[in-house]
Amino acid sequence: MKALLTLGLLLLSVTAQAKVYERCEFARTLKRNGMAGYRGVSLANWVCLAQHESNYNTQATNYNPGSRSTDYGIFQINSRYWCNDGKTPRAVNGCRIPCSALLKDDITTAIQCAKRVVRDPQGIRAWVAWRKHCQKRNLSQYIRNCGV
Ligand SMILES: *[C@@H]1O[C@H](CO)[C@@H](O)[C@H](O)[C@H]1NC(C)=O
Repeated sequence: MKALLTLGLLLLSVTAQAKVYERCEFARTLKRNGMAGYRGVSLANWVCLAQHESNYNTQATNYNPGSRSTDYGIFQINSRYWCNDGKTPRAVNGCRIPCSALLKDDITTAIQCAKRVVRDPQGIRAWVAWRKHCQKRNLSQYIRNCGV
């Protein structure tokens, strides 16, 4: 019984650290944080980007062997330019945050950093998945029935 309780608490703590947003929940959170039309980028574009980068998983990480950098979180923000993970060569930390801050259930910090990324000249084109899956597409499905 005690072992089961311990297992239950362990699972609870693990799942609590791996929040996966539901599509409309994500869209509403973006809107609340001023992302609708931020730098000319519509909510549907942000939702499309996140779906294809992380499938809305706040804990997503992907290592890029070429640059020995890692992409972090729901927006897959890169450690070479935007955050500090203590292991990426020639890292810049443009958002002035530890990369772990991009993996939290509360995506406020991740959104602030995504805003910083999109303020750079290349804008939303910084995200490969956006160019591949969202650019020049009809994106209305991504915010359908979300009330945003
Ligand atoms: C985009 O797709 C939606 C739903 O499939 C459709 O209603 C809408 O007319 C389309 N918009 C454009 C500009 O093609």
